[in-house]
Amino acid sequence: MKIIITGGAGFIGTHVVKLFVKKYPQYQIYNLDALTYAGNLENLKDIEHLPNYQFIKADITDEKHIQQIFDEIQPNAVIHLAAESHVDRSIMNPNQFVLTNVLGTIHLLNAAKKMKDFKVFYHISTDEVYGSLGETGYFTEKTPYDPRSPYSASKASSDHFVRSYFHTYHLPVKISNCSNNYGPYQFPEKLIPLCINNILNEKPLPIYGKGENVRDWLYVEDHARAIDTIFHHGKIGETYNIGGNSEKKNIEVVQTLCRIMNKKMNKPNGYYEKLITFVKDRAGHDLRYAIDFTKLKTELNWQPSVSFEEGIEKTIDWYLNNSEWLKNVTSGNYQKYYEEQYSKR
Ligand code: NAD
Ligand code: TYD
Repeated sequence: MKIIITGGAGFIGTHVVKLFVKKYPQYQIYNLDALTYAGNLENLKDIEHLPNYQFIKADITDEKHIQQIFDEIQPNAVIHLAAESHVDRSIMNPNQFVLTNVLGTIHLLNAAKKMKDFKVFYHISTDEVYGSLGETGYFTEKTPYDPRSPYSASKASSDHFVRSYFHTYHLPVKISNCSNNYGPYQFPEKLIPLCINNILNEKPLPIYGKGENVRDWLYVEDHARAIDTIFHHGKIGETYNIGGNSEKKNIEVVQTLCRIMNKKMNKPNGYYEKLITFVKDRAGHDLRYAIDFTKLKTELNWQPSVSFEEGIEKTIDWYLNNSEWLKNVTSGNYQKYYEEQYSKR
């Protein structure tokens, strides 16, 4: 089987590519990625020599190039992760999110539609398409879409296009909608790696609003396992929600990071907590996301295997042991981005 994995040099894509390349030597894995600020080939150093792995630098907004690549490879499957993924960036520049997340997805769908022996187009999406919950309730696969940020609107639109190709052209598709991921290789623009990086540099830890917004956190390797399960055993035309059973307020997450880092860095209790800084809230900030993943659990026997407490320790240890990685990704344009995002708040 020849599988094109898009966005394989990004955070979640790195884990998915590694899992598939190592676990399925009989598959040929093509990692198609444009290497934007969020993509990093260093992540894949330990597998790049393997005979069933190949990297292809390509931009999914370039329809001609995408078609050319599909014509050459004749893939049997696509796992589509490439996207602009950060809500704050979508607020600053929505157009790029439409180009990559909507148009880019359509280009891949069009190319896949022309393949002869094509088994599945698996689209990786987010729980953010369902909107924002109050203090109770959960998102199920039947929750109506209600995206509220340019990021989630672009992901919702791409989900609709994927479904429309199933109904209109009988393209075999699957979709999963996952909650917030955390773990190794996450770019330090998202809450957890940003705070780890700022703690290491003793910079303020920016908490939007009162820090009472709730996210359901899933360790990234558990997401990669869910993608493996759905890819192999999920039903064509179906959607699966993936969640971590681990709802936390943002302030709790940041306090946990501070508490663990105080110990690891031999600082007194309460030391890094002093860096916590409440800043102006994100525009349109969704209050709470929480996932009901009963369908995935009962039908495909998947559930998270890493608790938040265990996962956050592993994540912090990874960043401490990979300070060079952190240094590399925060050089260049990162500082400018960071200043634009946070210093003006
Ligand atoms: P990421 O931003 O870390 O990585 C995105 C990858 O896509 C990068 O390697 C980047 O180079 C590549 N890319 C971006 N634009 C491209 C283009 N035009 N052509 C080709 N490649 C391009 O993202 P992530 O956090 O790993 O998310 C991966 C997918 O999972 C996304 O579709 C996202 O919506 C979804 N998702 C993410 C989370 C999360 O918590 N991070 C949760 C649920 C779903
Ligand atoms: P983020 O990691 O950007 O993921 P998402 O917006 O997709 O959920 O943000 C997680 C939560 O943390 C979200 O409620 C916004 C908040 N947040 C902060 O309070 N400070 C920050 O610096 C960032 C990046 C996020």
